[in-house]
Amino acid sequence: MSFKVALNFEDGVTRFIACPPTDTVADASYRAGINIPLDCRDGACGTCKLFCESGEYDGGSYIEDALTDEEAVQGFALACQMRPRSDLVLRLPVPAAACKTGPVTQTAVLEEVTRLSPTTLAFSLKLATPLMFLPGQYVTIQVPGTGQGRAYSFSSTPGAASASFLVRNIPGGLMSGFLANQAKPGLELTFTGPSGSFFLREMKRPVLLLAGGTGLAPMLSMLGQMLAEPPVHPVHLIYGVTNDEDLVEIARLEEYASHRPGFTWEACVASPASAYPRKGYVTQYIQPPYLNGGDVDVYLCGPPAMVEAVRKYFAESGVTPASFHYEKFAPSVAADKAA
Ligand SMILES: Cc1cc2nc3c(=O)[nH]c(=O)nc-3n(C[C@H](O)[C@H](O)[C@H](O)COP(=O)(O)OP(=O)(O)OC[C@H]3O[C@@H](n4cnc5c(N)ncnc54)[C@H](O)[C@@H]3O)c2cc1C
Ligand code: FES
Repeated sequence: MSFKVALNFEDGVTRFIACPPTDTVADASYRAGINIPLDCRDGACGTCKLFCESGEYDGGSYIEDALTDEEAVQGFALACQMRPRSDLVLRLPVPAAACKTGPVTQTAVLEEVTRLSPTTLAFSLKLATPLMFLPGQYVTIQVPGTGQGRAYSFSSTPGAASASFLVRNIPGGLMSGFLANQAKPGLELTFTGPSGSFFLREMKRPVLLLAGGTGLAPMLSMLGQMLAEPPVHPVHLIYGVTNDEDLVEIARLEEYASHRPGFTWEACVASPASAYPRKGYVTQYIQPPYLNGGDVDVYLCGPPAMVEAVRKYFAESGVTPASFHYEKFAPSVAADKAA
């Protein structure tokens, strides 16, 4: 028997390895060709220190110089000593290249492109083998014939035979234009990943999800994962868009709400011309109960301006969430230069 261990590097690259409960994470990584920095291999130097985001493990034996009791309580551990007791998600304070590894590039076949609304597309890729990633992460997909790549967050859950995505259909956009006008099912696409440090952590308290536009995609992936877990804590989603036509995947949200006790959601539309009952910005709908006096994990994703506005709101609100994770759907540098 082996456990699945996700190694999330400082640069967002994520590799999954199999680790039996009898092996240390360092040994299992080494067998997979990933050289976690080690020095003493004996729990004495602290070189292999990492942070465990989720899962159970036996921390092994070590001295205080390598890992203090306080660090151990916080979730730090030593790769040369720790043995998994469940699947783990580990964060390493080094870039992937420092461990002689890097992002994986592979191909997949385009299954379908769906126009969800005039402004939003969905597409799915049929994978050669089910792809592991952490809900919230993204892949970089090559735009055929251009030498350029674009990042897209999974809206599907890990380990499925196909992966799906939501894309804002930008007039003149390289990838969105390609998907809207040229892409045909059966086309082979190359992608690299999974990547990103924006992913669902172990649920220890209530969760507030804040999505702007297609920033809904990683939230759908997280919600899909939550459906598979016991509903211990409440989860609330506030989904904001600019215009009515940007509101998509409502049926999916309703389905999640009917299947996951404790999950509630609301949407709002910023345009004053909207016919939607709730108008305005996401920040207008953050009510005190959702913040639980600060004992809440907040996940925020959307266009850079929206993410900045929400961050400013939190900075000024006086409430510091127990954890705050965000992802900006920043335009690619190549597009900025071309503009
Ligand atoms: C980590 C990460 C994850 C991402 N995940 C997603 C995702 O799941 N779904 C998604 O839709 N996008 C996502 N993006 C954005 C995505 O990578 C592309 O930048 C976006 O799809 C535009 O690409 P394009 O080739 O269609 O347009 P481009 O050819 O890159 O851009 C065309 C023009 O539109 C401008 N532009 C780019 N983005 C926008 C925008 N949002 N609104 C208005 N103008 C814009 C550009 O500056 C440029 O002038 C993500 C970005 C990052 C960094
Ligand atoms: S390598 Fe020295 S403590 Fe792990």
